Amino acid sequence: MIAVRELEVRFGSRSVARIDELDVAAGEVVGVAGESGSGKSITALAILGLAPFVGATVTGSVRLDGRELVGLPERELRAIRGRRIGMIMQSPRASLNPTIRLGQLMARTMRLHDVPKAEVAGRIDAAFRSVLLDSDLLDRYPHEVSGGQAQRFAIALVLALGSEVVIADEPTSALDVTVQAEVVDLLRRVREERGAAQVFISHDLAVIGQLADRIVVMRAGVVVESGPTATVLGAPAAAYTRELVAAIPRIGAGGRGG
Ligand SMILES: Nc1ncnc2c1ncn2[C@@H]1O[C@H](COP(=O)(O)OP(=O)(O)O)[C@@H](O)[C@H]1O
Ligand SMILES: [Mg+2]
Repeated sequence: MIAVRELEVRFGSRSVARIDELDVAAGEVVGVAGESGSGKSITALAILGLAPFVGATVTGSVRLDGRELVGLPERELRAIRGRRIGMIMQSPRASLNPTIRLGQLMARTMRLHDVPKAEVAGRIDAAFRSVLLDSDLLDRYPHEVSGGQAQRFAIALVLALGSEVVIADEPTSALDVTVQAEVVDLLRRVREERGAAQVFISHDLAVIGQLADRIVVMRAGVVVESGPTATVLGAPAAAYTRELVAAIPRIGAGGRGG
């Protein structure tokens, strides 16, 4: 579904992310791990065609279902973003227009992406049921919902638009642990029920391990390791990955036991 080749993102002459090869198939979740500043978010922006908006230059290739996205005119990218490639960000409340109620925002976004008017209400209803959100929330403004509800709403939007690819950048990092688990669960359902391809970005390897089929580990803008989740977590090859794995708190190994 997504094929990245020789992708490089630069700020001026400084290279901040380089990915030689990354494929994400339909129904697959690829996790991108790495400490803060390793180039995860800028990679996500590059895939979405948004990197130029933050002043970065992108070279290489990102194909969606065979179609080249790098260098595509913004007008065409806008039609792809949101509809075919959905985004779930760390702080959805902050990125939602504060003056528009959630229901209106959802309806507008769908209309913008040419969802037939007759389908809008039904899709919203189905999406809200999928993410277990009460339809009362449709009347609220972004600041009137919790972080967890806002993240559920972001997932509902992806479902309602029928995105084939979902890029989630630190979607659980601003949430407390219980809500984190719920969001991971919902993203798992997006994969299972919709067969969407997902890029799941997190600095938290433990969270990635709960969801990803494969893991890419980045450090200082380069990929230091990639492979199936079981291999990367169970037998990491790179010293840096071993450090990250060693930092994962183990159930029962101290801390709050249950
Ligand atoms: N708008 C920007 N201008 C200049 N440098 C940036 C900008 N955004 C990100 N960077 C740099 O790019 C690198 C990767 O950042 P980022 O992708 O946000 O990392 P991560 O998401 O892994 O924490 C960092 O060194 C960061 O300082
Ligand atoms: Mg980031």
